[in-house]
Amino acid sequence: MEFSCKHFKVGKCEGEKLVDGETIPLVLQPSEANKNGLESLLLALKNNKEWFEQMIIKNSAVLLRGFDVKNAEEFNEIVEICGWEDIRYVGPAPRTHIYKRVWTANEGPLSEFIYYHHEMVLFKEYPLKVILFCEIPPPEGGQTPVVPSFKVTEKMVEEFPEAVKEMEEKGLRYTFTAPGKNNTGSMRGRGWEDAFGTSDPQEVEKRAKAFGMELEWLPDGGLKTILGPRNLTKVFEGRKGRRMWFNTIVGMHGREISSAKMADGTEIPENVVKRCAEIIEEESIQFKWEKGDVLFLDNLALLHGRRPSLPPRKVLVATCK
Ligand SMILES: [Fe+2]
Repeated sequence: MEFSCKHFKVGKCEGEKLVDGETIPLVLQPSEANKNGLESLLLALKNNKEWFEQMIIKNSAVLLRGFDVKNAEEFNEIVEICGWEDIRYVGPAPRTHIYKRVWTANEGPLSEFIYYHHEMVLFKEYPLKVILFCEIPPPEGGQTPVVPSFKVTEKMVEEFPEAVKEMEEKGLRYTFTAPGKNNTGSMRGRGWEDAFGTSDPQEVEKRAKAFGMELEWLPDGGLKTILGPRNLTKVFEGRKGRRMWFNTIVGMHGREISSAKMADGTEIPENVVKRCAEIIEEESIQFKWEKGDVLFLDNLALLHGRRPSLPPRKVLVATCK
């Protein structure tokens, strides 16, 4: 596959990494200085659809930089011209609908680190692509680090062959507890009414079933969601046979509102989770957001997160099948 095409120039960004011969992210810039307008970009995407998608899969992430993308409406045009179907976000992140296919990425406090994850990893259907647009770059922090998932699997297999084998064979089970509306306890997080988009418990049960979740209503009005068994790793077509670390044990293990165990109830050893978190951090790649950046992630290949940030920061998202 040709590495460049006449509509884009390959650039560089601080923080990019060479992983297995591919640069993550691949930075694509206007081919000429006067071709940085939205119309030129839309035309370039339209004329190179297949090539562009192959670049996302080959490099796992493509960063469009140097184009004049101003707002949610223009970002939406970019998303739509790519032609991938929309997939509606389901999960714990508080998000606000902005315009057509565009949402705020996460409205959790900017001071919090949003832990690395594959988008909607615990659901039966997850997005193939996550597209992010930086409208207001943070003055400090607030990067969206990404991690090549197969590298995590490789290192974990190398360091903990037994534990990986056991988790792989038994599968994983997760729980997530959402407080009820009137819960005044210490539990943080988004209420189940918000998470499920309804305050009718029967409707919640119906929706949970559709997502393959079990539910347990708690005496204090909270709701415990149980998901599993789920795989530890997954291999996806077209990704060089790489075993992706397609789970969220580090993010959910041993927390106040969540847990991750093997599906038969066996605890995942503390040292395995701890070292896994270190590996993920070691393998992470990050760059500084610039105004107008549009980042395309192969959600099957990369974990992503959000570092704590000083305000203001506005990063918008669209998710695609
Ligand atoms: Fe995410």
